[in-house]
Amino acid sequence: MGGESARSIGFAPAKAILIGEHFVVSGAIAIAIAINLYAKASAALAPRGSISISAPGLVDGAGPRGARSGGDPFEPLASMTRAFLERYGIDQGVDIRLSSEIPLSAGLGSSAAIAVSILAALSGLFGIRLGREEMFDLAFISERILHGNPSGIDHATSIYGGAIAYSPSMGFRRLSVDCDITLIIGDTLRRRSTREQVLKVQDFLKRNEGIAREAFERIREISEMAISCLEKGDMRGLGALMNENQALLSKVGASSRELDRLIGAALEAGAFGAKLTGAGGGGCMIAIGPQEALDGIEESIRRAGGVPYRVRMDKVGYRVC
Ligand code: MEV
Repeated sequence: MGGESARSIGFAPAKAILIGEHFVVSGAIAIAIAINLYAKASAALAPRGSISISAPGLVDGAGPRGARSGGDPFEPLASMTRAFLERYGIDQGVDIRLSSEIPLSAGLGSSAAIAVSILAALSGLFGIRLGREEMFDLAFISERILHGNPSGIDHATSIYGGAIAYSPSMGFRRLSVDCDITLIIGDTLRRRSTREQVLKVQDFLKRNEGIAREAFERIREISEMAISCLEKGDMRGLGALMNENQALLSKVGASSRELDRLIGAALEAGAFGAKLTGAGGGGCMIAIGPQEALDGIEESIRRAGGVPYRVRMDKVGYRVC
């Protein structure tokens, strides 16, 4: 091939789980929104048999924390890429370059967004109209290698965009949310493995059947009420449900001292609700509140030792350029 071949670009958003992380792994309904932080993949043709993946700007690759130690950090993504090529009978190699503005191992679905951005770029490169369900199945390949037994909510949200209710058995349901949702994210800067957090919480739930039963019953009610709050634009009501969800997450061991500190700081500054998001144990918390309190919430999180930033709901999901 002479010179640089044409590249296809895919973007995919991060996600924030508003309600139901961890419980969703065992079948509960969780609610998530896509947010306007993006992973970007650029793909070009390469010699047959060659799949090369690089991410010069990413500190530790697209998920090496989840990869077996000593292994190639990009192997989960290469497996997914191989599956894509096989599924569509493509006898070509690809060169993939990644970048991302989503913090890694922080609860915002960076690995899922990276996987989805690659699939978007590949579909553009080979002119394949990839259905969202096919994309969901393919992204599950790398997500399973990385995280063990993920529910699928991270990449479902990145693919579909907007607000979704999801359970592994029911699949996803898009929620009709008319209002713009702004979240304040507080990053503890403590990184942790989703795989280990999920194992820890699932183990707790197995060993404490009474607590687990009560928590699952309550989370079912919380999810139902949260869907109705979102669809009505009742952010104050949603905030109260997020606070209740956080109490349950603390009970089952998903929170941490740093997260609790940032959550307390956000509530003191007037947030309607605040909770950890994603696997917990570190990573990020989220808060919602009235417009006039948002600056104060950010400042309060900063003073409590976190790194705050403001994000909005992404309504579109992945895109190909
Ligand atoms: C991770 O973003 C959310 C968890 O519920 C795990 C999962 O659903 O796969 C902790």
